[in-house]
Amino acid sequence: MIKNKSIYILGIESSCDDTSASVICNGKILSNVVATQEIHAKYGGVVPELASRAHQQNIVPVIQQAIQQANIDKKDLNAIAFTRGPGLMGSLLVGTSFAKSLSLALDIPLIAVNHMQGHVLAHFIEDESMQKPPFPFLCLTISGGHTQIVKITNYFTMEVLGETLDDAVGEAYDKSAKILGLPYPGGPLVDKYAKLGNAKAFKFTKPKVDGLNFSFSGLKTGILYFIQKKVKENPNFIEENLNDICASIQYTIVKILFDKLKKAVEETEINHIAIAGGVSANSEIRKVLKSYEASLGWTTYIPKFEFTTDNAGMIAIVGYLKYLENNFSNTSTTATARLKVNDN
Ligand code: KG4
Ligand code: ZN
Repeated sequence: MIKNKSIYILGIESSCDDTSASVICNGKILSNVVATQEIHAKYGGVVPELASRAHQQNIVPVIQQAIQQANIDKKDLNAIAFTRGPGLMGSLLVGTSFAKSLSLALDIPLIAVNHMQGHVLAHFIEDESMQKPPFPFLCLTISGGHTQIVKITNYFTMEVLGETLDDAVGEAYDKSAKILGLPYPGGPLVDKYAKLGNAKAFKFTKPKVDGLNFSFSGLKTGILYFIQKKVKENPNFIEENLNDICASIQYTIVKILFDKLKKAVEETEINHIAIAGGVSANSEIRKVLKSYEASLGWTTYIPKFEFTTDNAGMIAIVGYLKYLENNFSNTSTTATARLKVNDN
């Protein structure tokens, strides 16, 4: 039956500032096109109104390109999966409305996908370079909007063990970068300069948060006051110490993340550990995680770079897994700005 058949799913992602479309066949990526909206860089962060407009401009060419690159005809598609939430309402509405119209036009089923589940389940994309984690496993989901430790018992059974009480870790990176005068999104730049610096050059206070929760807003304020003080003493302080500042910020952020992750492993006794989300592209996080295989006996699962930041491949794989379970939605499904990881 289904097993011998080729199932083609089109995934559509438009929750924030990336317009993306992907075609997968039986869980294997045939195309994964991402149009990143450059317009936000000059505003130092995502401007929701501009994001919706850019999605409107990008969505048709991005989907056309995804179908073309997959070398299929749109009539070959079996279903359309789209991001229902969480995200920016105006952005979500563009993808949601387009997905509904296309499913009606092609007369194929519609599948609503939770973006957070997409980040986690990207690990199940069929790809030779990736190993699939066995259940149960823990996932550290770290992005511009989220910081969570999630226990995954089954594809669609997820429990948040801890999460940020204020800023997400990606925001901590981006806001720190902004303080240093770096363009948005600053996370990758902090990562780049940190590689050249001394992580012990400056010390930043780590937050004291109970349990497995996180907090990053205090760190951001601490960095701001530190930089203001130093720049007053020496106006060239940032330029002269950029690598060391970035390395020290990165060291602090990584320590905060791994202290909690180690605690989660101790408490759950689960040592299959995955990372997901845009910040999981970070080189130091990948390095430290990998080192715990030898030192702590963890088995780690690091997604391919292109599946970490927002992309429609991760939406398409959730679509495929739901397709196999006949878990379809319909045109009355609405975009939802706030969704928990366990909301299906
Ligand atoms: O998952 P994502 O693409 O979008 C959200 O759902 O938020 O994550 C974007 C975030 C941004 O904050 C960006 O600065 C951060 O991921 N990021 C990084 C790196 N690459 C992307 N942060 C630190 N190091 C990186 N190499
Ligand atoms: Zn995301």
